[in-house]
Amino acid sequence: MLSSSIWAALFRISQLVPVVVALRTAPGSPCATVCSKQSTNTTGSEIACLDSDFSATSKGSHFQQCIDCELRSAYSDGSSGETDVDWGLYNLRYAFTSCVYGYPEKVNNISTQCTVNCQPLDTALEFDLKTPGANNFYAWCGTTAFADNLITQCEQCYNFTITQTQDPTNSQSQVYMANFLEALRYNCHFRTPTGFAFPITPTRIFSESLLPSSTVDLINPSSTGSSRVKLALVIALPILAFVIILCALTICCFFFIRWRRRVARKHRQSSHLHARWNDTGISTPGHTNWANYHEMYSLGMYQQAYVQQQQQQQQQQQQQQQGVSFANKDGRYHDVGSSKDRTEVTESAAAMPPQNPSPDKEKQKAREYFGEDAKQKQ
Ligand SMILES: *[C@@H]1O[C@H](CO)[C@@H](O)[C@H](O)[C@H]1NC(C)=O
Ligand SMILES: *[C@@H]1O[C@H](CO)[C@@H](O)[C@H](O)[C@H]1NC(C)=O
Ligand SMILES: *[C@@H]1O[C@H](CO)[C@@H](O)[C@H](O)[C@H]1NC(C)=O
Repeated sequence: MLSSSIWAALFRISQLVPVVVALRTAPGSPCATVCSKQSTNTTGSEIACLDSDFSATSKGSHFQQCIDCELRSAYSDGSSGETDVDWGLYNLRYAFTSCVYGYPEKVNNISTQCTVNCQPLDTALEFDLKTPGANNFYAWCGTTAFADNLITQCEQCYNFTITQTQDPTNSQSQVYMANFLEALRYNCHFRTPTGFAFPITPTRIFSESLLPSSTVDLINPSSTGSSRVKLALVIALPILAFVIILCALTICCFFFIRWRRRVARKHRQSSHLHARWNDTGISTPGHTNWANYHEMYSLGMYQQAYVQQQQQQQQQQQQQQQGVSFANKDGRYHDVGSSKDRTEVTESAAAMPPQNPSPDKEKQKAREYFGEDAKQKQ
């Protein structure tokens, strides 16, 4: 109760003092005269949110002067390890969360679409905000909520606020907020070493032209450049090697298949030649066709003749005896259990007298004839 009344009294006193300065610096900082004339802690009362406020209001211009001093300062406090750059960036973060999320305290009534667009970043940006110190200034950079795509989305939203108003005196533009965020992102990616000023000049941060996305270490571009080249090589070389091996394999496969095909073709050709030596019937396609046709035709004729002969014999046999042999529609001869008939057929064929009689028999016949004739003559 007592403490709260004391704070209220202090607040009222601070309200009465024309220039209230409460933006924190490193202990013993040269910027302390600009930033912390009354209190050393950063408070919401020092935070401006609209771009126009930073030039038109005393608290806005004071904030800008203080941040300008801190980010240009290479001062670091040996005992605490805090630097002016650390506090300058902390103050930017504080201003952002105060304006956008109303944390730690609500400093305005501005309501834009960007409050919604930047909402996913709040847990990251508010992390350890109330307990700043040398060992946790950038702990929030490692939180998963501080994702590059979310940052870009938030920045683009604030970049669009510039087009929403025509009247520059009553501008609601908040492009500075996007630049605050980009400055924070830069330092998360490329930590400013102790003894160095912040590489992005404060005049670029307090500007309505959006900062480019941080992709290069501005303090040591050559080393990061070479390390990036090394990284790129480390990534690219295995991929390149893989692609080369793949290409080589493809080419090998191609030639191997071609070689296999050529060998197979050669083999087929030589076998063709052999076939031609053995079989003249397939030397030319036309001849082959004709030969096949001829073969089929003659075979058919032969079959037909055979079948006819068989049928005739069968009919003869059927006249002699009732057999079980039959010929079906396609003219094929079948005999079911008629081996007896078959043998009879062959026997009958063998028993038939030879068409060409032996010369002796002829002679005998002639002799008989002539003898008879002679006998008749004689
Ligand atoms: C500043 O804040 C810290 C903790 O956030 C607190 O311990 C300290 O008393 C504050 N100093 C002033 C002057 O308000
Ligand atoms: C927000 O608006 C309300 C009323 O509209 C007012 O009482 C309050 O002080 C405003 N807050 C700020 C931070 O401007
Ligand atoms: C920011 O806004 C300006 C003007 O409206 C535009 O020219 C620029 O391309 C925008 N930048 C990004 C990254 O969207």
